[in-house]
Amino acid sequence: MRTTITIAAVLLAGSTVAPAQPKPGVDRAKVDAAIVAAFPTAPADWQSRFVQDETMQQCSMHENLPPKAVSEAIQQREKAKVEYPADGKLMGDLKAGEVLAQSGYGLRFTDYPQRNPIGGNCYACHQLTKAEVSYGTIGPSLLNYGKIRKFGEAETKAAYEKIYNAQASYPCSMMPRFGANKVLTIGQIKDLVALVMSPDSPVNK
Ligand code: HEC
Repeated sequence: MRTTITIAAVLLAGSTVAPAQPKPGVDRAKVDAAIVAAFPTAPADWQSRFVQDETMQQCSMHENLPPKAVSEAIQQREKAKVEYPADGKLMGDLKAGEVLAQSGYGLRFTDYPQRNPIGGNCYACHQLTKAEVSYGTIGPSLLNYGKIRKFGEAETKAAYEKIYNAQASYPCSMMPRFGANKVLTIGQIKDLVALVMSPDSPVNK
């Protein structure tokens, strides 16, 4: 009985918490204009990067926490964008994958005209191998990623889809949509899948 009362008291106390402050109105058109104005010397092939696609618009609108129906629509739309390798092989060269994971080259002002292959910059957000001690933590650690997943087939496909288009499984993810936005090629994505999923990879040693 006492337990019941305590729980009831806790629940009641919870319900008396003041509601969150209403957010000040945001004029989205103003924000969009301010972003464009911040890059006055942007080259012509940058202009499309100022335009949000439908998924980005929905994520902005819901501050990256879309309600269920929107979330499902995003996942469905983004999943439809995933293209698979013609040869059906999801893993490429893990050494090339490590080079891509280390490289932050591409899409910066100084990278025009493009002189090198665009990198994945994975270490900016993820721990991958034990040898590399400099990494960001916006994304989860990928140390032993394949090993933990028993190098499974379904898990390898999921890794490919994640790298191709993070939002196909995680609406409004902070991870870039590398394949869907044509930042990385299918071949490069295969190399990165090998890096995270191959038993021979330093990620899994
Ligand atoms: C800007 C930060 C960022 C970059 C760059 C980034 N990721 Fe991610 N990644 C995330 C976040 C955040 C998550 C968790 C949300 C999700 O699953 O989409 C994630 C999730 C993942 C997952 C799934 C993790 C799990 O628990 O199943 C894999 C695999 C992955 N990333 C691989 C990569 C690879 C490979 C690269 C480089 C091509 C990369 N990421 C680049 C932020 C990033």
